[in-house]
Formats: sequence, C-alpha cells, structure tokens
Amino acid sequence: MPNLIKSVRGTRDLLPPDTETWNSLDAIAREVFGLYSFQEIRTPVIEDLQLFQRSVGEDTDVVGKEMFAWEDRTRAQSEKGQWLALRPENTAGVVRAYIEHKLWERPGLQRFYYIGPQFRRERPQKGRYRQFYQIGAEVIGPTSAGSESPAVDAEVLEMLAMLLERLGIQGWTLQLNSVGCASDRPKYLEVLRAALKDVVDKMCVDCQRRAVTNPLRVLDCKVPEDQPIIEKLPRQADYLDEDCRRHFAEVQKILTAVDVPFVLNHRLVRGFDYYTRTAFEFTHGLLGAQNAILGGGRYDGLSEALSGPPAPGIGFAIGEDRLVMTLQEISKAASKTPDVYVAPLGAGMNVAAAQLARELRRNGVIVTMGDETFKLKKSLETASKLAARFALIVGENEVNSGQFALKNLARGEQISVARAELPSRIIGSSQGGSSLR
Ligand code: HAM
Repeated sequence: MPNLIKSVRGTRDLLPPDTETWNSLDAIAREVFGLYSFQEIRTPVIEDLQLFQRSVGEDTDVVGKEMFAWEDRTRAQSEKGQWLALRPENTAGVVRAYIEHKLWERPGLQRFYYIGPQFRRERPQKGRYRQFYQIGAEVIGPTSAGSESPAVDAEVLEMLAMLLERLGIQGWTLQLNSVGCASDRPKYLEVLRAALKDVVDKMCVDCQRRAVTNPLRVLDCKVPEDQPIIEKLPRQADYLDEDCRRHFAEVQKILTAVDVPFVLNHRLVRGFDYYTRTAFEFTHGLLGAQNAILGGGRYDGLSEALSGPPAPGIGFAIGEDRLVMTLQEISKAASKTPDVYVAPLGAGMNVAAAQLARELRRNGVIVTMGDETFKLKKSLETASKLAARFALIVGENEVNSGQFALKNLARGEQISVARAELPSRIIGSSQGGSSLR
C-alpha cells in the first residue's frame, strides 16, 4: 500500500463549522474597514524574491531563514532563472503595486486592506503555522496628501480598537513604541553597538549573532538571563530627533483623546527593516507564548527602497489564525462549566434550593439548578453530563440540620459540609478553575 498523503507540516485544513467563524470575521473586518474608507487590494501570492530582500531585509529571520523561495526556470535549463518566493507578508506587495500602477496619481491617500495567506518556514507550534492568514491594511501616499501625519497613525490604531470591539475581543493590550527614522537611527545604532561590545559575550548565542547582523533585534530577546543586561542598554526613545519625538507625542495625544488605551514599550522593535517611527503590537493574555494578535507600524522609506517615489505609509496585519484562537478562548472562558449542580430532593425543596443557590452565587460560585421533581439518580446524571464538579443535595434533613451532602462527581466522594462552609469548600477545591474569577 502506498503511504497515506497528509497535509504538509505547518499547514492545516479549515473545515466547517470553523470556516463559518472565519467568514464572519472577514465580513466584520470588511465592514469596519469600509467605515474608514479602506478598499480591498489583492496582490499575488508569488513575488520576486528581491522584493522581500529589499523591503523586509536580508538579515531578518523571515527573509534570511524562513522563505519558501525557488529558482524558476521557464526557458531552457541552462538559462539563469528568476528567484521567486511565496510572500511571507503583504506590505511589500502592496507598496510594489502602488509603485507599479502609479497609484500616487489617484487623489488623496490610498487606503487598502487585504485578507489572505502568507508563508513562513517557521517551527510550527500552537498559534504559529507555515501557512497562516492575515487581515491587513495599509495607508500610503505622497507627503502632500498627509501621509506622514500622526493623525493617520492614530486613526489606524483607533480603527483596530473599533474592529476588536466589534469582534467582542476585550482584554487586549496595545504596545506602542517609536523606532526612529533614517536621520536618528544611525546615531542610536552606534551607541547600541558600543554598549553591546562590553556585554555581548555574556549573552545568548542568538544575541551574539544579532549584535553583529541586526543589533536592534537584541532588544527582542526573550532569554531570561539576558533580560537584566538588555534593561541597561541605551533606549531608542532617548535618541529620537526632534521631529520623531514630536510625531510620537502627537500620536499619543490623539490616542488618549479618542480613548484608545496603550502602554509604551521601549523594547518593541518589530522584525523588519522597513519600519520607521511608530511601531505597535496588540497582545492578548489568553494566547500563551505567541501572544501577538497583530503588529504593524510606519514605513516612511519603503517606497524609495523599492525605487518608487517618496510615499510614507503605515499599516498592520492581524494574524487571523490567532484572532480565531482568541475568540475561541474567550468563549471557552465565558461558557464555563458549573462548579456545582444544586439538586433539590423532594416536594417543596425548590424554595430552599433557590435560597441556597443565591447564597452560593453571591460568593462567586457558578451554580446550575435541578428541580424537586427529579429523582436523585436523575439529578446526579444531569450534573455529570453538564460536567459540574459537585452535586449539592438539598433535602429536608439537610435544610433542618444545616449540614449538606456535597458530592465530588469526578472522585465519587461525598462529604457533609456546614452551610456557611459550602462556598469555600466548592471554590477552594477548584483545580485549574477559571483565572477570571
Ligand atoms: P508581523 O508582525 O510579521 O507583521 O505579522 C503580523 C501578525 O501575523 C502577527 O502579529 C501574528 O499575529 C501573525 N503571524 C505572523 N507569523 C505567523 C505565523 N507563523 N503563524 C501564525 N500567525 C502569524 C507583518 O506581517 C507586517 N506586514 C505588518 C504590517 C503591515 N506592517 C505594516 N503594515
């Protein structure tokens, strides 16, 4: 028998009913983008490899290590082919299209959004795939159309807050930084390199490599032993030139005025060479290690790096796989299984059970109620089906004595507990219970 053919490592099938979730996310994103006058752009999945080398940068992990690229020979084998790549991100493709179609000839700023697959040969893990999906947006145009204005940065971030709100995602953190620009970055790199010289031999091997190839990435290191060293390194914020400093202050002022909360993170550097000035990520605590739902920032020099006219821009990309995961985690947390199933036992016991349930809920216990018409067996079966951790029996004897039979359904043990101690017995024994309580 020939081997079974399986999906390729790091890729996955999206099946119904999950595809419904993906489609409704796309629909909500399109609706919100519409409110802000963004229109859809679709660029090819395959691009010239050079596009990413000249934009994202050859020394970055994404281009240096993670590209799906190949030499494409359309003519004779002997002829030199063209190096093509599956896109690892979509900003470079959008800016290429802006230049190729002379989109600056259209009035005002160009506001584009895209939804589609991206490819990176990363080590797959939860929330990290080799084919993943992004919902992204870019604003780009001549400076005369206002493309450099801090108001654009704030508008893009406010749009993201609106989108997450529409999707029902709360509890996110907007991390914000300014990574400087062509005029102040060389000075910062110089002092950073000098500071690294003295400490780099005490750092991890990755940092030793980064210190040579791309020192800014040292700030991104997650190795615990390196953290005290990194905290003492010079900060970009102290080397911003006057224009960048004012720009960043204005972005923060508008965000505060429109009620978009943020935290400043001076170590947020982002992975690509094209970033200038405002850089940001939205993270979510329910996501675990890969906690960035989205990332983005300004790229004021990117068009010129691709031989286009000056065309400052800013944008972001949401990892749709992670957005779906966040929504699933949120709904899991919301539809928590009951702590206790309260089982009234015998005619007339619904009243006493209702009183007890109210007491428990006031103390933060999640309660599901049975009914006095249920036999004990039926109550216990229902409690198990609902995956309640305990069943609490409320019969006449229990109410009169003030001592209640509390059955741990997983272990099958039953103990007698005084009324006042019920909440602490039930919550106190919660194993891996919700951290939201
Ligand atoms: P990025 O930070 O590389 O930025 O990716 C954006 C988001 O895509 C990440 O925050 C994450 O949610 C998701 N993502 C990245 N890699 C993976 C992966 N292997 N598996 C699952 N999700 C992933 C960009 O791509 C920039 N083009 C964003 C941008 C637009 N900057 C300016 N304009």
